[in-house]
Amino acid sequence: MAGGEARGRRKDYEDEYSRLWDTSGMLGWLALTMGGNPLVPFVPTRRENLDTIFEVLDLKEGDVFYDLGCGDGRVVIEAAKRYPIKRAVCVETRGDLLEEARRNAEKAGVQDKVVFVQGDFFKVPISDATAVYMYLLTSVNEALKPKLEKELRPGTRVVTLDFPITGWKPVKVVETTGVWQRKVYLYIVGVSDKQGGE
Ligand SMILES: C[S@@+](CC[C@H](N)C(=O)[O-])C[C@H]1O[C@@H](n2cnc3c(N)ncnc32)[C@H](O)[C@@H]1O
Repeated sequence: MAGGEARGRRKDYEDEYSRLWDTSGMLGWLALTMGGNPLVPFVPTRRENLDTIFEVLDLKEGDVFYDLGCGDGRVVIEAAKRYPIKRAVCVETRGDLLEEARRNAEKAGVQDKVVFVQGDFFKVPISDATAVYMYLLTSVNEALKPKLEKELRPGTRVVTLDFPITGWKPVKVVETTGVWQRKVYLYIVGVSDKQGGE
């Protein structure tokens, strides 16, 4: 990607997160967590939302579960702890976060079930996934959409937090309860991408 394009993209993401977190009064905190990340800042999924997210993901025995941009690994680690999935794959561009995720998986005793991939989620192959989680941004979901459509098999569940996949029709949208209300979107490949959404 050319430098100008990357900077433009990054600015878009920053604006989008700023709008979101501004409304939550968290902009100051966001500024501290931007770090040097080229695309999406590390904003972890709140643990209080995990029950709802897993209810929507509906993970089952044999599932191969990816978190694209897995941060400190909390979602894949919890998935590996709670469900008899085949494996969880933690894809993260930042080496420091991936190291933290590795340490957290060891502490939780699930290191054998979690695969850690340091890389760009636009480039990492994901065709073995049966369930995918993304807490990114609408614009990043949009950029990832062609890859999802090309690589994921029909029936694969894709769950996003807060940000929809524009042009895909969600099968389900669940609002979390609690202080910070969140939307959890469920998409199914082969269904959602054929119907057209917002
Ligand atoms: C909003 S955070 C979500 C973290 C984690 N999924 C969670 O829910 O707790 C987005 C994460 O995506 C990572 N990320 C951003 N761009 C990426 C890319 N191109 N490839 C892989 N990871 C990326 C960031 O470093 C950050 O950890």
